[in-house]
Amino acid sequence: MANTLDTSHFWMPFTANRQFKTKPRLLAAASGMYYTTDDGRKILDGTAGLWCVNAGHCHPKITQAIQQQAATMDFAPTFQMGHPKVFEAASALVAIAPEGLNRVFFCNDGSESVDSALKIALAYHRMRGDGLRTRLIGRERGYHGVGFGGIAVGGIAGNRKHFGPTLAGIDHLRHPLDITRNAFSKGLPEHGAEIADELEQRLLALHDPATVAAVIVEPIQGSTGVILPPKGYLQKLRTICDKYGILLIFDEVITGFGRLGSAFAADYFGVVPDMITCAKGLTNAAVPMGAVIVRQDIHDTFMDAAPENAIEFFHGYTYTGHPLAAAACIATIDVYKEEGLFDRAAAMAPYFEQAAHSLKGLPYVKDVRNLGLVCGIELESIPGKPTARAFDVFEKCFWDKGVLIRTTGDIIALSPPLIIDKQQIDQMFGVIADILKAQQAVSRTESVVA
Ligand SMILES: Cc1ncc(COP(=O)(O)O)c(C=O)c1O
Repeated sequence: MANTLDTSHFWMPFTANRQFKTKPRLLAAASGMYYTTDDGRKILDGTAGLWCVNAGHCHPKITQAIQQQAATMDFAPTFQMGHPKVFEAASALVAIAPEGLNRVFFCNDGSESVDSALKIALAYHRMRGDGLRTRLIGRERGYHGVGFGGIAVGGIAGNRKHFGPTLAGIDHLRHPLDITRNAFSKGLPEHGAEIADELEQRLLALHDPATVAAVIVEPIQGSTGVILPPKGYLQKLRTICDKYGILLIFDEVITGFGRLGSAFAADYFGVVPDMITCAKGLTNAAVPMGAVIVRQDIHDTFMDAAPENAIEFFHGYTYTGHPLAAAACIATIDVYKEEGLFDRAAAMAPYFEQAAHSLKGLPYVKDVRNLGLVCGIELESIPGKPTARAFDVFEKCFWDKGVLIRTTGDIIALSPPLIIDKQQIDQMFGVIADILKAQQAVSRTESVVA
């Protein structure tokens, strides 16, 4: 199939297009923990697709809900109209959300959820008569999707540098990754909670707290290589935001829906933000959907500020609450509950941690960091060839070993579906170990030959 397929027309996202098209990696089917490639090979999914298929692929209950909905009503607008499923989906989501977060704005993905949350934050302050609060604070190495709001508060140079000044009035916290002090931490790092203090001591001191609308952080920075919050760090952010009337937004696009063994990272950390952005596992990725889960009084501020019979929030998407997405959302949340998948992830986390840390001491492994069913393995870069070592592991995993991993720079990130079993965990870490040992053997042979 790969030989006959015309790959020229699809401009692929976040992909080295020219390299990919010389030898396409094509997935053709999926079920449970596995993909099947176009040439019929089984691939163990170590990344839940892209951090999103938490209940495993093609779950029959979710598939059936989508099929039924597609046959019953394909589309209905949610501008000045509604359909029952979108209200049911909102209620289902609120039922697993942290207490007090009970109003849901739906959109279509993580990027839109972030941009929607930032708009809600800005408009909320303005509607309260506090319109000076226009600044937004993100974090270095943060990923908040690819909308202009998301790249502005995000902290990834490559995602920003081609696109001009993005939004005005943005600043960034330092990220808390410090492998000189915290390498090979099991779970949360001990050192670095004080980095949160710079929100108050550096950024608020510089900008004046009365001008800041919101701080947005991922509880765990996923896309830039699994950066965990040091113990006490998120609590400190919450305290500082409270002190100055600043909204705290948790971007839980990756951490939501059981990744840490709880519905949301907010539950795991015992820190309740003012808004949660989510997507991905919201529908098990079977239909695109995103959401902002909002504290009720923030929502009510909009309701109270607008004149009667007027639109309260000038924002929304044609596909907000799309019937297929709503049906998938309801079925997915049911599956999480019925199959106890969040508890399952929590129960499997110690085994996963042990397997992850078995890589310590192997060639090129600089750090292993983990929490719940997420793990980052940071490798020494090949001198002069950043990203090449991890990418080689990725390719060998895919072509030779039948395992899908994800890499960012020279960091391997693993985030399997929550249904993974112990033998599959062993397989995933085992093939990475074998490839790293083989890389070292090749490099030794090359240096002898040279
Ligand atoms: C924390 C976070 N926020 C936002 C996004 C963007 O989501 P999407 O790609 O669905 O727009 C991602 C995607 O990985 C993410 O990890």
